[in-house]
Amino acid sequence: MVNLQSAVKIMSIGGTGAEMGIKELLSQRVSAAMQAAGVPSDCSPMVALSGKPQFGDYQANGAMGAAKQLKTNPRELAQKILDNLDLEGVADKLEIAGPGFINITLDNKFLAKSLGQSGDQQSISKQTVVVDYSSPNLAKEMHVGHLRSTIIGDALARILEYQGHSVVRQNHMGDWGTQFGMLIAELEEQMGEGEQAELALNDLEVFYQQSKKHFDADPAFADKARGYVVKLQSGDNHCRSLWQKFIDVSVAHNLEIYQQLNVGLGREHIQPESSYNDDLENVVNELSTQGLAVDSEGAKVVFLAELADKNGDPSPMIIQKSGGGFLYATTDLACLRYRVGTLKADRILYFIDARQSLHMKQVFITGRKAKFVPDHVSLEHHAFGTMMGADGRPFKTRSGGTVKLADLLVEAQERAQRLVQEKNPELSSQEVAEIARKLGIGAIKYADLSKTRTNDYIFDWDAMLSFEGNTSPYLQYAYTRIHSIFRKAGIDALSFSAPVMIEQPQEKTLALKLSQFNEVLSQVSSDCYPHSLCSYLYDLASAFMSFYEQCPVLKDGVATDVQHSRLQLCAYSATTLAQGLDLLGIEVMEKM
Ligand code: ARG
Repeated sequence: MVNLQSAVKIMSIGGTGAEMGIKELLSQRVSAAMQAAGVPSDCSPMVALSGKPQFGDYQANGAMGAAKQLKTNPRELAQKILDNLDLEGVADKLEIAGPGFINITLDNKFLAKSLGQSGDQQSISKQTVVVDYSSPNLAKEMHVGHLRSTIIGDALARILEYQGHSVVRQNHMGDWGTQFGMLIAELEEQMGEGEQAELALNDLEVFYQQSKKHFDADPAFADKARGYVVKLQSGDNHCRSLWQKFIDVSVAHNLEIYQQLNVGLGREHIQPESSYNDDLENVVNELSTQGLAVDSEGAKVVFLAELADKNGDPSPMIIQKSGGGFLYATTDLACLRYRVGTLKADRILYFIDARQSLHMKQVFITGRKAKFVPDHVSLEHHAFGTMMGADGRPFKTRSGGTVKLADLLVEAQERAQRLVQEKNPELSSQEVAEIARKLGIGAIKYADLSKTRTNDYIFDWDAMLSFEGNTSPYLQYAYTRIHSIFRKAGIDALSFSAPVMIEQPQEKTLALKLSQFNEVLSQVSSDCYPHSLCSYLYDLASAFMSFYEQCPVLKDGVATDVQHSRLQLCAYSATTLAQGLDLLGIEVMEKM
């Protein structure tokens, strides 16, 4: 595999020109001109990409808002701003349009020079960002419901890390709930009958069903199970060792899934619910002392007027049951303190299903009121919709059961394998397997990441594995195409370096796209909607394809400097595509 990180670095070293992104540079310059024209400094220059080439490459739309505030004519103000605007060497043409838009057409030489700066993230202020993602319950095997959190969270962790933030991945695994009493009681019985723990737990789904059946049918067993939860949570050795056996198997299974999914979660990122056990009582005591938690029918409850219902009744959050047991919310409060106090988070991102929105709101509000979380720390729940089947209902097996993630990943690779074999029968079986893995896993991930996070989406094998449209196979294919150009030319794409000259409109469009990579990343790292990165990569690949159709690279008769410039555009396109896909956790290949 190509080492993309180093590739990007090579290209940045070669680059000169703007230290910051183009949009940021334009914003600063327009801002300065606005102030020189008498506009108050809090008025935004409102620099944005132009929708159409005839309006230039960028537009500054701040004159209208400023004119309103100053009660003056917007077009005249725009002219004053223009008179003060210094874009020497940056823009080629400045024009006022409509009621006071300033259209900016970049200088092609400036644009060309600004390429190859994709490794430069100097201007971002670095934060410590805790990313809570995947976080499955360990009682059962991971199923498709865990996919979204796992891959969306991972994409964000990668993007933030790439920007230079200090990212702390936290896998808040559920290993402490009431179900574990039942599971360890069952494990004890099966082992008592001579079964090996590993064998009994060979299929966690089956084991869970067995325990549940046992629990429902046998009151004595159910009693024992309930007793075991209490014993486990209070540190009983026997229960603890049965529990550990169970957890080991379940964790190993999850780690294997992460590896198959190319998700950057390892053992070191697991910070399970049980790890907060010792702090739960403190949390309850502190909230009680502060008067935030009150006794209610024997339980300890935090009532939140902030989340009152239509009738004005405050929203209750139970933090200790009448029997003394602690809850999911209690753990999340202890966890908040850990993330703020020990991990020193500036920003905490939670990638959890939209159904837990109320829970997250309750935890955040309580955490702030109790001063567990200082004001400057940002708490963000980034919710997502559900993955649906073709029938528009949550994705299930034919018989209506939950789809295990492991099975889904196997199917993806099998389907991809058939496609690859069809397309390219000359590949060795080893090559086919490798390509199919990247193609199949990439397809599933991209299909998810490219949809607006908050919406439900329909899981569709044919669409996600298509080589046309906004899919991972299309992008991976575009990447292999660029590689084949370099192969034909007998040049190493990564060490290639030549000055870029922008002459044809397709070269301009491609260069503009390439220059926007970091801007897109800034947006994604702030709003946590990775589909913008997908759309960007799709547009980039499409811009590359039109460039490649219109601008011959290796054909006879192309002047050497033009050929080199185009090869350099090819190289930038390849690195940006690969880097972008890598940030989504998707691998590329040199041929397919
Ligand atoms: N284990 C939970 C579940 O499967 C998700 C945990 C998310 N993280 C958190 N800090 N609550 O629903």
